[in-house]
Amino acid sequence: MGMKAIAYSQTGGPEVLGLVERPVPEPGPGEVRVRVEVSGVNPTDWKSRSGATTGGRLPFPEVVPNQDGAGIVDAVGPDVSGLEPGRRVWLWESAWQRPTGTAQEYTVLPVRNVVPLPDNASFDLGAVLGVPGMTAHRALTVAEGGPSRLAPGALDGRAVLVAGGAGAVGHAAIELARWAGAEVVTTISSDEKAALARAAGAHHVVNYRTENAAEAIRKIFPDGVDVVVEVAPAMNASLNEAVLALSGTVAVYANNGGEDFTTTIRPLMTANVRYQFMLLYTMPAAAKTQAIEDINAAVTAGALRVGEAAGLPLHRFPLERTADAHAAVEAGAVGKVLIDVR
Ligand SMILES: NC(=O)c1ccc[n+]([C@@H]2O[C@H](COP(=O)([O-])OP(=O)(O)OC[C@H]3O[C@@H](n4cnc5c(N)ncnc54)[C@H](OP(=O)(O)O)[C@@H]3O)[C@@H](O)[C@H]2O)c1
Repeated sequence: MGMKAIAYSQTGGPEVLGLVERPVPEPGPGEVRVRVEVSGVNPTDWKSRSGATTGGRLPFPEVVPNQDGAGIVDAVGPDVSGLEPGRRVWLWESAWQRPTGTAQEYTVLPVRNVVPLPDNASFDLGAVLGVPGMTAHRALTVAEGGPSRLAPGALDGRAVLVAGGAGAVGHAAIELARWAGAEVVTTISSDEKAALARAAGAHHVVNYRTENAAEAIRKIFPDGVDVVVEVAPAMNASLNEAVLALSGTVAVYANNGGEDFTTTIRPLMTANVRYQFMLLYTMPAAAKTQAIEDINAAVTAGALRVGEAAGLPLHRFPLERTADAHAAVEAGAVGKVLIDVR
């Protein structure tokens, strides 16, 4: 049996992505085959494809892109229990150290990377839980004194600053922080993004282009913020220094706006500030397990949502137009880019 897939056999621009016909893969021991319904595109997918994060190297002779997705279990290999054919699932780290991701009609993954999708969740939501959801969970669980788990009440009394609340990770961070009881402020750069961040649930929105963000945030939180979910650490280094509470944590998950930064040591020492860098792929396995469990609890509770009304507009492309989907993410599409694989 054959299937459609999108693949590249050299790194480069979106044009290296081409439609190919491949045999439907068979699941081995401990593996699950999933019929992919929706593939989620993240910046990591185009950065790998372009070679930006691989030193220009192609890790396999042919690569099918995209880490995230959602679909239906189609077949299971020997020794797999708990996931039967017909089960709706979401997928994470599909293409990490593996040649094929979710831009194909069927994918085979270790059972660990295939998570039951709660009944109330759409495939669209399932396709944003991997990279954005797990990154946001990690960022909210690395602070001094915890919590290491998110649940209602876990962040009661905490002030969280989400940099870039209209981004995909920022959106998930607002929703998870709010679900866990935090008071959330987010920085955005336009009225359109302010509306999206508010729709996601941010209590406070600060335009970092038109306002003095440090003053505005200190006015909201005179004692400072406990956690910063940081997408642009170089650009925001002095802002963070100005707004962090005692024992505050900056959780750095990206290098948007600059790879290098300098900071002033004494004020951060005095405030016992923690800088925690993070990369999803290499973070501790236990943290990933906790993220998956808590994310499914948040989904079941209706706390994670997608779509314009929820603050995350969706931009859809058919599988054949995966190159356009990658280009849209690379161009900074506001919201979430999804591929309808079926
Ligand atoms: N470490 C990890 O494991 C990990 C995991 C997921 C994502 N990432 C990385 O995280 C980044 C974001 O991913 P994404 O999917 O959320 O992308 P996205 O949807 O494009 O969001 C990026 C957001 O960052 C905002 N931003 C940029 N500079 C800012 C600043 N100085 N202050 C406040 N906001 C700022 C942008 O808005 P404005 O430009 O309007 O401010 C935009 O809303 C990417 O570089 C991605 O590769 C890393």
